[in-house]
Amino acid sequence: MIVRKSPDEIHAMALAGRVVVDTLALVGDAVEPGVTTAELDEIAEDYIRSQGGVPTFKGYRGYPASICASPNSMVVHGIPGPYRLEEGDILAVDVGVTLNGLVADSAFTFPVGEIDSEAHRLLDVCQAALAAGIEQARSGNHVGHISAAVQETTEAAGFSVVRSLVGHGVGRSMHEEPQIPNWGEPGRGPKLATGMTLAIEPMINAGGGDVYMADDHWSISTRDGSLSAHFEHTVAVTEDGPRILTKARERSLLP
Ligand code: MF3
Ligand code: CO
Repeated sequence: MIVRKSPDEIHAMALAGRVVVDTLALVGDAVEPGVTTAELDEIAEDYIRSQGGVPTFKGYRGYPASICASPNSMVVHGIPGPYRLEEGDILAVDVGVTLNGLVADSAFTFPVGEIDSEAHRLLDVCQAALAAGIEQARSGNHVGHISAAVQETTEAAGFSVVRSLVGHGVGRSMHEEPQIPNWGEPGRGPKLATGMTLAIEPMINAGGGDVYMADDHWSISTRDGSLSAHFEHTVAVTEDGPRILTKARERSLLP
């Protein structure tokens, strides 16, 4: 069953989304060569709690941290730790915040210093794929419209979507129905309706789409060692079209 949210619940999700966005901005400001992913996790957790939020990921099925930090060929679910960022890396950071019982979820892949042009293109295409997917998050469309838009944008650029990982409904809990694959056909899957809230999250690889899970039982990386990018927004389907609840603000949080 797909839970549709009231306007009040969507408003509350947007407040959680604001904390998510500001957390990503703070983490992004701290991303530089020499910083460990554990340090980024601490920055995120401190900020989320200072805003009265709870880091949704921490303790979820035993997950030990507040963010996921996935460098280079790691796709998602990297556990923060002693890894020190290096010039030329890319780092996918995923943040979930629960505020007043409602959840927002977003991810951004940051360049570390100067990155090469192919890595840059991968980030640009992943963001474009997310934007194309969001554009389809309209009442009357199906989940497959989102999936197809993400896939087409990615494959037209010569990259691959990861087929074994999906986006999801989000709001009263982190993972709700429906699943949102990053590949598929328009018109397939559940029909979208006003009040649905979706975490749309393309995970795309520079090489092939196959992935494997590491011995830590969390982190997922590309099978062929190619670079991977991940961008995610929490989006509400509204009467006026898609509304991004984790949209970056023009002016940042910092006083
Ligand atoms: N946004 C990710 C997802 O939807 C975050 C989950 S990390 C976890 O799967 F640790 F909480 F599982
Ligand atoms: Co998600």
